[in-house]
Amino acid sequence: MPIALIVHGGAWAIPDDQVEPHQAGCRAALAAGWDLLSRGASALDACEAAVRLMEDDPIFDAGTGSVLTSDGTVELDAALMDGRSLRYGAAANLRHIRNPISLARKLLVGPATMLVAEGAEQFAVAHGIPLIENSELIVERERALWEEWKAGRIAPSPESHTSPPPAESPPVATTVGGHDTVGAIALDQSGNLVAANSTGGTPFKLPGRIGDTPMVGCGLYADARVGAVVCTGWGESIVRVALARRAIEMLERGASPQTAAEAAIRVLSHQVSGGSGGCIVLTPGGQIGLSWNTRRMAYAYQVEGVQPTWGV
Ligand code: GLY
Repeated sequence: MPIALIVHGGAWAIPDDQVEPHQAGCRAALAAGWDLLSRGASALDACEAAVRLMEDDPIFDAGTGSVLTSDGTVELDAALMDGRSLRYGAAANLRHIRNPISLARKLLVGPATMLVAEGAEQFAVAHGIPLIENSELIVERERALWEEWKAGRIAPSPESHTSPPPAESPPVATTVGGHDTVGAIALDQSGNLVAANSTGGTPFKLPGRIGDTPMVGCGLYADARVGAVVCTGWGESIVRVALARRAIEMLERGASPQTAAEAAIRVLSHQVSGGSGGCIVLTPGGQIGLSWNTRRMAYAYQVEGVQPTWGV
């Protein structure tokens, strides 16, 4: 079986001036994960490395550089699923963790599958992950957008599906698009498939809001016998159709990964009003699928013996 890796950097109306950095970030994440995979590392290691790199890249809505809540803070979610054991670990509503994907990985072995907020951060400390100030996750681009939103001078674009501006604000002049989620799927030399994702959620989200990213079957799923799927987009719509499982069920019925990805996104478009997002798919044979109904999705992938591919 070939080794393979696919990453995405979010599906949304990525503005023209952010296309190049999204592409560069995806390619860097692919290279970091591929370097490990091609030296025999596990799919778990490759996914964690790729997602950590994107969490640390401030262009993406994950880790440092994430969008702000309506309170002006960052709250992060992440998850990881091992396709051979079907173990799944997720951490959500994190405010003091630089790399949520590494905390999700620690939860793969239990005792809980998902921890949130203070409990998750206590678990992190107990397992050697340091806490940081929430302000360390905030970049000037997002602070400035939040201040504009708070003043009622901008509103999230419809694609952002997020909190309305403060009631007392004047008519809004411009809209801003959402940022959305990073993810990775790796297939290693042993034939294992792992899916991973991480997000800051939707812009100006209500404090405590959690989307699809950390929810198994919604934001991700991995079954080493069938395939793995990672989703991105408007979390509330993705959850309603359990998007990752939709694509997995198509694979189980014998669909190709591209057909499965396209069918899952069609369900999202047609069954949920305003449903928007994208997904990436990888099979045990190293076949890739990807689809989105947003203006753009950033991605990069490589399969052993074939040149890497990327796009936005
Ligand atoms: N897809 C990320 C979120 O909605 O939180």
